[in-house]
Amino acid sequence: MDAGVQNHSVVSSDVAEGFIGVIYGDVGTTSFRCSAITPIDRNEFVQVRHWQCGMVLGRVEELQRKTDLSLEKAQLVSDGEDVQVDEKVSAAIHVIGYRDERGLLQVPRTPFRAGESVYKAEDSLIRQVIGLLDSERKGAYIGVLIGHEIQIYLDINAMVQKHVSVLAKTGGGKSYVVGVLMEEFMKHGVTVVIIDPHGEYSSLRDKSKAEATERKFGVKPRSYSDQVLEFSPDVKVNPSAHPLRFTLGNLEARDILGLTKLSNQRSHLLMLRKVLDALRMAGKAYSLAEIIALLDVEDDTTVGSLIDELEYLREVEIFAKEGTKIDDLVVKGKCTIINLKGSPPDIQELVVSRIASALFELRKVNKVPPMLLVLEESHNFCPQMGVAASSKILRTIASEGRKFGLGLLIVTQRAAKVDKNVLSQCNTQIILKVTNPNDLRAITASVEGLTASMEDEVQRLPIGVAIITGGGIQMPLMVEIRPRETRHGGESVKVLPD
Ligand SMILES: Nc1ncnc2c1ncn2[C@@H]1O[C@H](COP(=O)(O)OP(=O)(O)O)[C@@H](O)[C@H]1O
Ligand SMILES: [Mg+2]
Repeated sequence: MDAGVQNHSVVSSDVAEGFIGVIYGDVGTTSFRCSAITPIDRNEFVQVRHWQCGMVLGRVEELQRKTDLSLEKAQLVSDGEDVQVDEKVSAAIHVIGYRDERGLLQVPRTPFRAGESVYKAEDSLIRQVIGLLDSERKGAYIGVLIGHEIQIYLDINAMVQKHVSVLAKTGGGKSYVVGVLMEEFMKHGVTVVIIDPHGEYSSLRDKSKAEATERKFGVKPRSYSDQVLEFSPDVKVNPSAHPLRFTLGNLEARDILGLTKLSNQRSHLLMLRKVLDALRMAGKAYSLAEIIALLDVEDDTTVGSLIDELEYLREVEIFAKEGTKIDDLVVKGKCTIINLKGSPPDIQELVVSRIASALFELRKVNKVPPMLLVLEESHNFCPQMGVAASSKILRTIASEGRKFGLGLLIVTQRAAKVDKNVLSQCNTQIILKVTNPNDLRAITASVEGLTASMEDEVQRLPIGVAIITGGGIQMPLMVEIRPRETRHGGESVKVLPD
C-alpha cells in the first residue's frame, strides 16, 4: 500500500463490540483524534489498526464535546427559548505502540489513516503491549488497571532490589497502599521492618470489617496476626508491643550528647568521655543509671544540666543493659513494626539510625534475611535540608542496599523535602494525589516516562487511584488500588458523627 495516498474512501465498519468511533482530521504517528460515538473515559485504553503495523494500543488523553451552541444561541436558551443543539464527542488519543516480531515496543513511523475504526482495547493486547507481569508467584497484587478489569502485579524482587517510593499529600492514601503492599509481602513470605511513627500498622493483625468488596478486585478480608511482630520504645503508650531497647555499649560520648540539648558543649563532652572511659575499663555492661551515678560525684558546677538531660533520656527507657536481640526483631517471612508513637523526634531518629545500621551491617554478612525497610515520614529521617541522626545510613542503604538485598520503601507527603540522593534511587514509584507545586516538581524530576498529561493528572487523582512506574511495569500506569484485607489503622478522626 502507498503511504502517500491522497484519497481513499472510508466505509463505517459497522458497530462491532467495543467500537468507539473513527479517526478524523489531521492524523499523527504519536497522537490523533477520533469521534467517540460510545461513551469512554479519559485514560482508558483503545486499539486501532495501523495499515503497516497491525493492532496498536493507545490511551484516551482528553475528551471534548464539540457543540454548535453559539454565544448568541446560549443567550436564547437563558431567555427560555427552545434551541436545538448539535453535539459530538471527540477524543484525543495518545499512541502507546505495538510489539514487533522481536517483542520490542514500537511506535508506528507513518501516520494512521483517517476513517480507521477505534475500539476499546482488548485485555490481551493491553497485557502484551504494556508487558504486564502475569506471574502471581513473585508479584504483589496492588490493584486493577483503571477502566479495565486487569489485575496489576508488581515485581517483588524489583521492589526490594531497587527501592520503592510512595508519594502523596496528607490523606492521599499512602499508608493505605503501604498496608496493601505489606499484606502482599507477608503473603509471599518477604521479611519486612516498618518504621511506624504514628502506630498505624498494628492493625495488620485485624481482619478488615469492610463488607464484600467489589468483585473485580477479588479480595477477601483476612488477618495476618501470626506474621506481625511489634516493638516499641514506649510500651506504656503501645501496650501491644514488645519493648525495644538498645545497649549503650557502642555509643560514644558525642553520640549520647547528640541525643540531648547540650550537643555543643565541650565541658560536658569531656566529662562524659571520662565517665564512659571509666565504665569501659570496668569491662561490664552499663546503663544510664551508672553514668549518672558517676557524674554525680564529679566536682563540677555545670554537671547538673548534663545529669538533668540524661535523666530525661532515662525516662524514655530506650537504653538498657541488655538490648533487644536482632534475632527477635527480624524474623524471616515476618513483618516487624517499630511503633514509635509517643516517642520524641530525637529518639525516633536514634531508633531509625540504630536499626537501619544494624540491618545494613547484618545483611552484608547474611545474618538477617534479604528484606525491605519501610520508612514512613521519611522526610524526617533523611531530609533534603539539614541532617538527621539517620541521614547517613539511609543514604548508604539507598545507594548500596541493592548489592546486599536490603530494600528501602520511602513514604512521604513532602517529596521535595526528602534527600534527593535517596529519592532518586527509588525505581518503583507509587504516586497518589499531590498538589504542592514543589513536590510535583520533585516528583517529575525523579520519574521517568511520565507524560505531560499524567503529570497534570497527579493533581486530580481521586483517593484510591495511583500512578505507578517501575516494579516490572514498563510504562507509568493508572491503577485503582485494591481494598485492604486487613483493617486500615490510619483512619482520620471524625469531628462530627455521620
Ligand atoms: N485505596 C483506598 N481505598 C479506599 N479508601 C482509601 C484508599 N486510600 C485511602 N483511603 C482512605 O483515605 C484516608 C486517608 O488515607 P491514608 O492512607 O491514611 O492517607 P495518608 O497516609 O496519605 O495520609 C483513609 O482514612 C482511608 O480510609
Ligand atoms: Mg499516613
